[in-house]
Amino acid sequence: MFGLFKRRPKTPGVARLEPLGVDVTVPVNQSVLQAALEAGVDFPHSCKVGTCMACRSRLVEGKVKAIRDFSYVLSAEELKAGYILACQAKLAPGDRIVLEVDIDSQRPHFPQLTCDGRITAQTALTHDIVELRVAVDQPLQYAAGQYATLRPAHIERAREYSFAAAPTPGGDNELRFFIRKTPGGQFTGWLFEQSRVGETLELTGPGGDFWLRAAEAPLVFVAGGSGLAPVLSVLEDAARAGVARDAVFLFGARTQQDLYQVDAIEAIAGRWAAQFRFVPVLSHEPADSDWTGARGLVTDYLAAPHVPDLAASHAYLCGPPPMIDAALAVLAAAGVADGHVHYDKFLDASNLAG
Ligand code: FES
Repeated sequence: MFGLFKRRPKTPGVARLEPLGVDVTVPVNQSVLQAALEAGVDFPHSCKVGTCMACRSRLVEGKVKAIRDFSYVLSAEELKAGYILACQAKLAPGDRIVLEVDIDSQRPHFPQLTCDGRITAQTALTHDIVELRVAVDQPLQYAAGQYATLRPAHIERAREYSFAAAPTPGGDNELRFFIRKTPGGQFTGWLFEQSRVGETLELTGPGGDFWLRAAEAPLVFVAGGSGLAPVLSVLEDAARAGVARDAVFLFGARTQQDLYQVDAIEAIAGRWAAQFRFVPVLSHEPADSDWTGARGLVTDYLAAPHVPDLAASHAYLCGPPPMIDAALAVLAAAGVADGHVHYDKFLDASNLAG
């Protein structure tokens, strides 16, 4: 007689997170970050794919298995000092680790909620970007620059989208997003097929580590495509709070038809409590058009005279990976310290079908 062979579930590992003093159970098929977030720990994170370093933490005890080699993003000194990326670290069955998490004392702490949302408006901003407004059944608090995940019931995988407006203290019952169509994307394919006003979806948030750090230094923002959303949210919030730091905003688009929310940006510039320079840069505008503004790659303008004091600036970047990588190279060459550069890579068409 042969019985059915039943596989015993593998014993999960445990990660002790310091200085939080919290033990998190880490199933063998999850990263330490994923397990911590599912346990409700407000673990710093952004990209979840091992590029932004927001989840960088120091392994004090034990061993982890790297999903993707950390050495692509962490320096030799950091690796020697025991730093790992929690989003790229798994535990062997039954293993225990102690992890020191870099908690920034300024970091905003808002409870992560999952709520029912209903699409109340869907407006075309360009030929491939729409503004979506989603009403939620409970007020959601977030920091300007953060994101939520959206998932209609018939779609398995939730997608992350940054809030496109400054938050209201006490929480918002209606949230704005800018969503770009990604070829082959299940969610955006559904969204762009026809108006989805009145449809429901599940919304979870807030998340992400793209928020304005308090400092005195001048600011430089670089955005491309739907990467405008978190930058606009941060700028609106900072203008409202009276942040008095000189700022330059470089906004990259292909042609004049791809520029959007320019009135909103100019309104912010008018209210900004210090100098504010807005530089839209077009990469594919026909040479014979009436455009008299900047042309080329947005990152070509990350220099004087457009950015008067780049080396002393704190930079906030949001857009497609090639734009971010180019901007990081320019900032590093200009001597901007790593800790003064914050970014959100928008993984879309070329990376993830959304
Ligand atoms: S590197 Fe881990 S969240 Fe970005």
